[in-house]
Amino acid sequence: MLIDGKQISQSLKDEMKVEVENLEKQYGRRPCLMVIIVGDNPASRSYVRGKIKATEYVGMDGHLIELPEDCSEERLLQEIETLNQDQKVDGILVQLPLPKHISEDKVIAAIAAEKDVDGFHPENVARLWLNQPCILPCTPKGILVLLDKAGVEIAGKKAVVVGRSNIVGKPVAKLLLDRNATVTIAHSRTKDLPAVCREADILVAAVGRPQMITADYVKEGAAVIDVGINRVDGHLVGDVDFESVAPKAGAITPVPGGVGPMTITMLMQNTIESYKLRVRKPFGL
Ligand code: GUN
Repeated sequence: MLIDGKQISQSLKDEMKVEVENLEKQYGRRPCLMVIIVGDNPASRSYVRGKIKATEYVGMDGHLIELPEDCSEERLLQEIETLNQDQKVDGILVQLPLPKHISEDKVIAAIAAEKDVDGFHPENVARLWLNQPCILPCTPKGILVLLDKAGVEIAGKKAVVVGRSNIVGKPVAKLLLDRNATVTIAHSRTKDLPAVCREADILVAAVGRPQMITADYVKEGAAVIDVGINRVDGHLVGDVDFESVAPKAGAITPVPGGVGPMTITMLMQNTIESYKLRVRKPFGL
């Protein structure tokens, strides 16, 4: 079975569109996402365009703040502080990576935790691991939605996550653990990685190595989630060798059209959730 992230994402956005319309009627303003990009990395530009386009689709306000490559860290921190204080801003996203002279850690920590719709702020990360209410990072959240929509059972199953990044590997492992999967986090130093992966009922590939996961990594009938977005000879391929793995997998996400669209859709959802918390508090923050 092909897990069609594009279609699932489309139907979720259609639902959000209706919800946003109702929210605007009820509270007199639209949810608002501010996206900051520093410099002109082409991949980053394309990602932020997708994010702004999605805000337009669901009927929210979406604005792009473009800062030059040589923008100082101080200037960026000032921009963030202005958005933190702005009662009409619900979500703030700073597109990563940032130029080397700017500390990503410092910038992420400067975003008000309740507007951190990426879920990258240390407070949100801590809250996730402590089982406290928090904003969940978009890609891991989207992966769980895909598994649920595809009817993949999680409780009691063996999940192997390949990759241990702060953005995907670690948080998706935590979300699978919360759903009572038995979770292994594997990585480049894992011994006999194919054998470890072959144990998985649910295999999440988030390593950033094009087509690394071949059929011999996959148990017959496993659900395979491909988080990779790799540009090879001008086209996109995942971390999974789709052609060899698809016949063996019980369910699999394609690249493009799998996890990617879900990440953006979960960003819209996080912004709406952040908006609701804000408008329902009588005195703003
Ligand atoms: N760069 C690559 N992925 C992401 C993401 O999810 N959020 C941000 N802010 N930057 C990214």
